[in-house]
Amino acid sequence: MTQSAIAVIGAGMIGAAHAFGYKVNIDRFSSRLDRLRLKTVCDGNGELAASMAASWGFETVAADWKDVLDDPEIGIVSICLPNFLHAEVTLAALAAGKHVICEKPLALDATTAGNIYAASKAASTVSATVFNYRRIPAVAAIQRLIGNGEIGDLVNALVQYESEYAADPDLPHSWRYERDRAGPGALLDLGTHAVDVARFLCGEVEEIAGAIATISVKQRFLPAGASIGHNHVELSTESRPVDNDDVMSALLRFRNGCQGTFLASRVAVGMGNSLTIAITGTKGAVRYSSRLPAQYEIARFDGSGQSPFAIVANSPALPFARLLPVPHDGVAIGYAEVFGFMIHEFLDAIAKGEPMTNGSILDGLRASEILDAIQQAADTNQPTTVKHAAA
Ligand SMILES: NC(=O)c1ccc[n+]([C@@H]2O[C@H](COP(=O)([O-])OP(=O)(O)OC[C@H]3O[C@@H](n4cnc5c(N)ncnc54)[C@H](O)[C@@H]3O)[C@@H](O)[C@H]2O)c1
Repeated sequence: MTQSAIAVIGAGMIGAAHAFGYKVNIDRFSSRLDRLRLKTVCDGNGELAASMAASWGFETVAADWKDVLDDPEIGIVSICLPNFLHAEVTLAALAAGKHVICEKPLALDATTAGNIYAASKAASTVSATVFNYRRIPAVAAIQRLIGNGEIGDLVNALVQYESEYAADPDLPHSWRYERDRAGPGALLDLGTHAVDVARFLCGEVEEIAGAIATISVKQRFLPAGASIGHNHVELSTESRPVDNDDVMSALLRFRNGCQGTFLASRVAVGMGNSLTIAITGTKGAVRYSSRLPAQYEIARFDGSGQSPFAIVANSPALPFARLLPVPHDGVAIGYAEVFGFMIHEFLDAIAKGEPMTNGSILDGLRASEILDAIQQAADTNQPTTVKHAAA
C-alpha cells in the first residue's frame, strides 16, 4: 500500500474545499491507502493555517511549502495557492515524488503548462488539474449523452461562467487583479472552468474567431492587512490599477464543426457564481445552470416545431451520484460534494496506481492553449488558431 499522508498547500478560499473532499473520502480509502490522513496545512499566513487545521482536523501546520515536500510521510498534495505559484510548486511536488492535484489554472500560459505536462509524464505519481465542474452529475450526464449521439451532431454551444465577486469596487486589490500574478483576469479565474467544460462536452477547440476583453473596475485599494478570497477587509489609502480583464467574451470554432459562444465575467451583477451551458445538436438540445445544480434539461427534436424541454433531475443513475450520502431520486447536490467526487477519483487513481484521465494535467494544458488563444485574439483583434502541443 502507498504511504499517504495528505497536505493542502494554501489555506485561503478554496483550500477548505479540498480538505472537505479528502475528509469525506478518507474512510472509503483507508483499506487501500496506508495511513491516509489529513496531516499538514501549509500557508504563509500562520493564523489561516492554524484555523483551517483546527476546523478540519489536520495534525500540523507549515509556513513553507518546501518543508511539506521534504516530509517523507506526505504522499498526497493539493496545491491551492495563487495562480503564479502553481507551476513552481507543482513541478517541485512532482520532483519530490508526490501525488499532486493542482488548482486551475494549471499555469499562467500554455508554455509553462506544457513544462508541467512533460514533468507529469516523466513522473510515476498521479497528477491532476482541478476541474471540479466535470463531476457535477448533470454535467457528466450531458457529456455521456452527447457521446452517445443522443442530440446528434453538435451545431452550437454556449458556455458562460458569470460571477459577481468583482462587481464591488470596494473589494481590496489582490493577486487576482494583477496580470503578473494571476495572468488574465476573468478569463483565467472563471474562463478556465468554462473552457474545460466546453472541451469536455464538445471536443477540441480549433480556432478563436474573435474575442473582446473589458476592464470595468480600473483601480482598487490595497487591503490594510491580509485578505483571502473575495472577502471585504479594511482598505488602505493606497490604490493599484487592475490590469487584467473583468469580462472576456469569445467565439469558438470546435474541431467537429460546432460553433461556440464563450463568456467569463467576474462583474456579473445578479449572477452570483453561475455556470451556464446550452448546446444544440441536429437531433436535440441540452441546457444546464449551476443555479439549479441538481438537474439538466433535454429537448429531443420531434418535428412539431416546438420540441419541448424535459427536466432530468438528479438520481443515482447519473454519474458520481452514487457517492452522495443520500443517493436517491431528486435529492439536491452542492458545490462541496462535487469536490468530494473529484478527490474520490484522485484517490482511486492513486490506490489503483493508474493515471488520472478525467481532469488530467494534459486537460490543464489543453485548457491553457485555448485560454492563450482567446487572450491573443482579444489583444490582436484577430482570429487566432489554437496551438495544440503534442500529447
Ligand atoms: N476550482 C475552483 O472552483 C476554484 C475556486 C476558487 C479558487 N480556485 C483557485 O484556487 C487557487 C487559490 O485561490 P483562493 O481563492 O483560495 O486564493 P486565496 O487568495 O483565498 O488563498 C491563497 C492562499 O495562499 C496563501 N499563500 C500565498 N503565497 C503563499 C506561499 N508562497 N506559501 C504558502 N502560502 C501562500 C495565502 O496566504 C492565501 O491564504 C487559485 O489558483 C484559484 O484560481 C479554484
